[in-house]
Amino acid sequence: MEFDTVIHGGTIVTASEQYRGDLGISGERIVAVAERLDGGMRRIDAGGRLVMPGGIEAHAHIAQESASGIMTADDYLSGSISAAFGGNSSFIPFAAQHRGQTIDNVIATYDARAKTSIIDYSYHLIVSDPTEETLNVGLPRAFARGITSLKVFTTYDLLNIGDAGMLDILGVARDHGALTMVHAENHAMIAWMNRELAARGMTAPKYHAISRPELAEEEAINRAILLARLANAPLFVVHVSTEAGARHVQRARAEGAPIFAETCPQYLALTRDDLDRPGMEGAKYICSPPLRDAGTQDALWRHVQTGTFDSVSSDHAPYRFDETGKLMNGSNAPYSKIANGLPGIAVRLPWLFSQGVIGGRITPQQFVAFGATNAARIFGMTRKGRIAPGMDADIAIWNPETIRRVTLKDQHDKMDFTPFEGFELTGEPEIVMTRGALIVEHGKLRGKNGQGRFVARGRLDVTGHPGVPVKEVALMKTDEANS
Ligand code: URP
Ligand code: ZN
Ligand code: ZN
Repeated sequence: MEFDTVIHGGTIVTASEQYRGDLGISGERIVAVAERLDGGMRRIDAGGRLVMPGGIEAHAHIAQESASGIMTADDYLSGSISAAFGGNSSFIPFAAQHRGQTIDNVIATYDARAKTSIIDYSYHLIVSDPTEETLNVGLPRAFARGITSLKVFTTYDLLNIGDAGMLDILGVARDHGALTMVHAENHAMIAWMNRELAARGMTAPKYHAISRPELAEEEAINRAILLARLANAPLFVVHVSTEAGARHVQRARAEGAPIFAETCPQYLALTRDDLDRPGMEGAKYICSPPLRDAGTQDALWRHVQTGTFDSVSSDHAPYRFDETGKLMNGSNAPYSKIANGLPGIAVRLPWLFSQGVIGGRITPQQFVAFGATNAARIFGMTRKGRIAPGMDADIAIWNPETIRRVTLKDQHDKMDFTPFEGFELTGEPEIVMTRGALIVEHGKLRGKNGQGRFVARGRLDVTGHPGVPVKEVALMKTDEANS
């Protein structure tokens, strides 16, 4: 067989194994995996490095207006370049519906914005307006086009859809084999804390973390899981930041419920002390849910290690430290008027490799699972996230030995800070490919504006998650069948 590219002399790492082997690529696909492959128009010597599936970033806000209406600093060009330098071959940012907007209109808007991506992409919808039209026309059309996941919020004034809206959405998603994701924090608890803090004049950035208690996440994750159980629908809990929230996920999964979840590097690497930096520096660390504490970090790592989480995602939400972003309401704004979100799409995988694999917390196989394979399976990217014949040639070759410090310049995004500045990282992706094309090669950008393609995604695979019957729903169905 003639190959366009052969990657030879590397250690192939998948979500389940690791072996010395060569990869043959023809066109856009992997066509052969063998102990040794000759030939190839281009031969890439992996030189003993790790040959892994290119990362899939499953949680990123790109060219998206925030809940308060400001635009992220990164568009699809800069966001995808930053992702590629971080070892990603594809990503799934959000396409956000604003109230009054049809889903068709949302998708058309993001189709136009995404044209510049250098890596493959899809979108998760954000649904804020679950009208009849959204539920019965817009969503089914989006699912049919391969946009098979959507996110809802239990908080933020302009996004919170309430329990009834969530049940409606869960039901529609279930009927179409689509997946509902949830940002879970209790809106009323946060509003109450905001009032209590305001009454005390406590408005500095550090109070952001106090204003969103762990209890608010614990309650909302539990509620979202129970709503999903009632609707007999799968659910993906995004950016879990608390031990109690992780325990709810763990318990539901152990019972057989199709519950999936992620956490993010910031909840494992940073703490609420970062919000207490001098002046307004703490604003750079405002994200929701907020950063917690060292004890929570340890607990979340244990959940990463033991399988509570399917992915570790960046939740890249880039708002600059200026009037276009964090300081849009002035350089002394109260925490409640500072844009929520941290950048981190380029640092997610290098940080996870360094702290996880090199740090001895997770295996290289878990790294591949958290970084690519699980997201591909859960979000229906059926030709991505694995190294096997027939799969897209989305590859990242990692040097596990390089040591460097995180700098803003290396993020290749449009931000003016990185919250991970100065962190020491061991290991980095030296070569990244999307569908057989080099997009990053030893620190140089090779990908081209618009080279990425929209990925139509499949239905959610819930194998291994049989579900937990709800007695009353079963009784209703029995009566219906007998009537
Ligand atoms: O603070 C965050 N995470 N901002 C981005 C939007 C969201 O809630 O995920
Ligand atoms: Zn969120
Ligand atoms: Zn997010």
